[in-house]
Amino acid sequence: MSKSIWMVSGAAVSLVLFMGLMLAEAPRAQPPEDPSAIVMSRCTKCHNTKRICDNLDKKDVEEWTQTIEKMVSRGAAVAPEDIPALAEYLAGMESGSKPVCR
Ligand code: HEC
Repeated sequence: MSKSIWMVSGAAVSLVLFMGLMLAEAPRAQPPEDPSAIVMSRCTKCHNTKRICDNLDKKDVEEWTQTIEKMVSRGAAVAPEDIPALAEYLAGMESGSKPVCR
């Protein structure tokens, strides 16, 4: 009797540990995301892309990096390793470019 309780709780503990590992590994296991997909999905949570559109052609890579870091500190779900590609993508866009501007 007591033996089976130990087995059940042991299994439950392993399951929790396993799920914790899966959650911790999940973001790294994914292939790098397309910067435009990141912008369109993560940068539209608090404001629409007009705010970004208005700044195209006004910021260089350095300034976009700072802007993105500011947004991340506010809660934007952008992984630190995606910031350089994102900053370059935004800095390289001409004003009025889709999909950020419509
Ligand atoms: C957690 C909410 C939130 C998310 C997510 C978010 N922003 Fe913002 N953003 C704000 C707020 C609030 C402001 C207005 C205050 C300000 O200007 O700092 C703002 C303003 C801006 C501005 C105009 C001001 C400036 O500094 O140029 C730009 C550009 C911008 N966001 C870009 C982005 C980008 C790019 C992303 C995705 C990486 C993003 N935002 C995601 C909250 C967010």
